[in-house]
Amino acid sequence: MSDKKLWSGRFNQPTDAFVEAFTASVEFDQRLYRYDIAGSIAHARMLARSGILNEQERDAIVGGLEKIRERIEAGAFDWSIALEDVHMNIESALTAEIGYAGKKLHTGRSRNDQVATDIRLWLRDEIEALRQSILKLQHALLDIALREAATIMPGFTHLQTAQPITFGHHMMAWFEMLDRDRERLADCNKRVNIMPLGAAALAGTTYPIDRHYCAQQLGFERPSENSLDSVSDRDFAIEFSAAAALIMMHLSRMSEELIIWSSAQFAFIELSDSFCTGSSIMPQKKNPDVPELIRGKSGRIFGHLISLLTLMKSQPLAYNKDNQEDKEPLFDCVDNVKGSLKIFADMIPAISCRRDNMRAAAMKGFATATDLADYLVRQGSTFRDAHEIVGKAVARCVEKACDLSELSLQELQAFSPGIGKEVFDVLTLEGSVAARNHIGGTAPNQVRAAIERARKRLTNQ
Ligand code: ARG
Repeated sequence: MSDKKLWSGRFNQPTDAFVEAFTASVEFDQRLYRYDIAGSIAHARMLARSGILNEQERDAIVGGLEKIRERIEAGAFDWSIALEDVHMNIESALTAEIGYAGKKLHTGRSRNDQVATDIRLWLRDEIEALRQSILKLQHALLDIALREAATIMPGFTHLQTAQPITFGHHMMAWFEMLDRDRERLADCNKRVNIMPLGAAALAGTTYPIDRHYCAQQLGFERPSENSLDSVSDRDFAIEFSAAAALIMMHLSRMSEELIIWSSAQFAFIELSDSFCTGSSIMPQKKNPDVPELIRGKSGRIFGHLISLLTLMKSQPLAYNKDNQEDKEPLFDCVDNVKGSLKIFADMIPAISCRRDNMRAAAMKGFATATDLADYLVRQGSTFRDAHEIVGKAVARCVEKACDLSELSLQELQAFSPGIGKEVFDVLTLEGSVAARNHIGGTAPNQVRAAIERARKRLTNQ
C-alpha cells in the first residue's frame, strides 16, 4: 500500500514530519474501522443503486472492504501515520487491493460526513452495551435488596443517624439512580442515531445520492436535515458524556458508601477479597481499592465532558479540525464507564452484610425520635409540641447515656402524661420501619413490592 496522501494534488512540498504525526489521528481512530467499513459498504451500494457505480465496481469495493476488515481483525493491517486517519488508511488499502474501482469509493462524500457517521455508529453500539451493563448491575441490586429487605440499618442525613431504614431500601435507592441513567442513555441515542452521511464536506453533493437508502442499510432512524449542522456539531457526543458523567457521579456516591460501610468504624459490610488489596507495609490492611478507584475515575469523566463542551464552544460552521479532538475523551468515557459498571456488577453480589453491626448502629443516635413524635401527634399533640417534648426526652437520654426505648414508662410519662405502654412498639427499630408503609417507604413489605415492580419494569422493556 502506498503512503501517498490522498489529498496531495495541490501540494508542492511534503508535509513536515512532525506536523504529519501531530495532525494524524490514526493511532486512536483506527478503533472505528468496523463502522468506517460498514459506512463505506452502504455508501458503495447506494452509489451503485443510483447508477454512479456499476455492479462490478460495487462488488469489487464491497469484497475489498470485507477483506480489509478481516485483515485488520487478524492484526495484519499496516496502519500508516502518513495516511493520517482510519478513513484514508482504509481507502488507500482498498485501492491497493482492487485498483481503479477503489478510487471511486469517495464519490459524493467527504471525510467530514464519514467521520461523523462512524462516531455515531460506534456510539450507538456502545450506548447499547452500556445499557446492558447497567441492567446487569440493576439485577444484582434487586437480588441483594430482596435478601436484605428486612435488614435494619441507620438511615443518615448529614451522615448523622436520622431514622432507621432497611438495607434493601438503600439498595433500591441505588437501583433508581441507575434506572434514570439507563433511560438517559436511551434518550441520548435518539439524537445519536441520525445519519450525517450525504452531507459530504459541508454543502451536500452534486451526485444523485439516496440518503434514505444509506440510512436504512445502516439502521439509522433517518438522514439528518442540514448538511452544515451534520458535519459540524458534536452535541450528541457532549450529551453522551453528560450521561456518562452522571453515571460516574452515581457510582462515586455508591463507592463512597461502600468505603465508609466497610471501614472498621462502621463495619456494616464486608467486601469480597477479590475487590480489595493489601498494604505493602501494614499487614492488617484490607483496602477498598476498587470503589476508591471508581470514585476517582469520576473526575476524569467529568473532565471529558468539560473538554468536549470547550472543544465545541465558538466553533464556526461547518467542520473544523478541532473536532478530531472529540474521539479520545469519548473513547475514554466509554472504556472507563463500561469498566466501572462491570466491576460494580461483579462486586455487589459478593457483599456480605454484617446485620448485627447495622442494627447496633441503628440503636444508637435516637433513630426512633421521629417515631415518638409521630406517636404523640396520634395522641392529639401538634407536631411542633411533640417535637419539643421528644427533644427534651432525648436530652434526658443523653444525660443517662441510654436510648429512648430504654427509658421507663414513668420516665416517658414525665414528658407527656398520656404516653401508654404501646409506645414501646413505635420505639423499636422494627416498629419504626414497618410504620413507613406506603409506596416509596422503607417498610420491608414496601421494599419487596418495589422490587417486584422494578422486576416487571425491567422485563417489560
Ligand atoms: N480525522 C478527522 C477527524 O477526526 C477526519 C475528518 C477530517 N476532515 C478534514 N477535512 N480534515 O475529524
